[in-house]
Amino acid sequence: MLRAGGEIFILGERGFPDAKVDTTAPVFAALNTKKVLTLYHLETGAVIRLMQSVVRAGDHVADLGSGSAVLAIAAAKLGATHVAAIELDPDAIGNAEENVERNGVGDAVKVIEGDAASLLPLVAPVRVILANIISSVLVELLPSMSMALADDGQMILSGILFSEREGMMRELADSGWRVIAEDHEEMWWSATVAR
Ligand SMILES: C[S@@+](CC[C@H](N)C(=O)[O-])C[C@H]1O[C@@H](n2cnc3c(N)ncnc32)[C@H](O)[C@@H]1O
Repeated sequence: MLRAGGEIFILGERGFPDAKVDTTAPVFAALNTKKVLTLYHLETGAVIRLMQSVVRAGDHVADLGSGSAVLAIAAAKLGATHVAAIELDPDAIGNAEENVERNGVGDAVKVIEGDAASLLPLVAPVRVILANIISSVLVELLPSMSMALADDGQMILSGILFSEREGMMRELADSGWRVIAEDHEEMWWSATVAR
């Protein structure tokens, strides 16, 4: 079992075969990773750390590049009531849906296959956007994110190399975003941003 941060625990069957569900954990995401090889990444853990002071009960959330849906599930466990888990890769969809059901958050989380740039306007407005995707795609998505986010909204961006921090800070500032929290672990940099 990995403690990703705060009260979120990530459990998996593939990389951590001895993992047991800790029923004393207030919040956990139990993942079936048979098809999705990306069980746990440092940049995923960074989003989970940052989101715990961002996601509120009743929030509408979009998780862009949702993969196994780990972040969408975590958002629902933190109280979000509407979570759109948007993923381009068709091979990830079935596993994400299975993970959502296994975690009992099917009422809140909908897994949607397709490009975030096209689908985000259809689920807007949202108060929180989670996006753990490579920085070049994040930069392309910034205008769509800006239009989809509620006025009091916050985004958590991850998948950014620490060496890309300065460039990303400039891109964000040029598009009217301010960084309100940062996370740095090994080569990865993640940030919570707001207008
Ligand atoms: C690093 S993985 C993140 C998976 C998961 N959210 C996590 O944090 O562990 C990035 C995911 O983004 C997806 N992706 C990349 N570009 C996308 C796009 N334009 N729209 C939707 N998904 C995209 C990829 O297929 C991949 O599954």
